[in-house]
Amino acid sequence: MVIKSANDLFIHLLSDVNSAEKQITRALPKLARAVDNDQLVEAFKKHLEETRGQVERLEKVADTIPDIRIKRTKCYVMESLIEESQELIDNAEKGPVLDAGLIGAAQKVEHYEIAAYGTLCAMAEQLGYTEAKDILAETLKEEKATDDKLSKLAKQNVNQKAG
Ligand SMILES: [Fe+2]
Repeated sequence: MVIKSANDLFIHLLSDVNSAEKQITRALPKLARAVDNDQLVEAFKKHLEETRGQVERLEKVADTIPDIRIKRTKCYVMESLIEESQELIDNAEKGPVLDAGLIGAAQKVEHYEIAAYGTLCAMAEQLGYTEAKDILAETLKEEKATDDKLSKLAKQNVNQKAG
């Protein structure tokens, strides 16, 4: 798609994060099966549910703005981040060390999403898409909360055992 205006860029970035969320929705069950720590399994499962809601929210964002439709595109960053987590799964045994690696991999995903939604919120505000901005801000808040939770889990449980 040709990107000429801020509005075109907004659609492009919205479509990109939509692809990212759909890819991570498909990957999270595999990540939840690969980890050992119960709290981490729960955290991944909960984030899978949240992510499904986030995909729905992106449709809502598009619905609040006239003439905006999410385009088919592929987020190559998410594809690579998921490949890297698969590489860890393929090369480490199930246990605290792999858990520590997958927490790190999940936090890379969260940080990418936080950056993506931060930009989208700022652009929505600039373009006067107030309702869209509020919806995007909800997801941004969830991604930050997930990142904080993963940091706590890493400190409290997994890293101690990974020794
Ligand atoms: Fe997300």
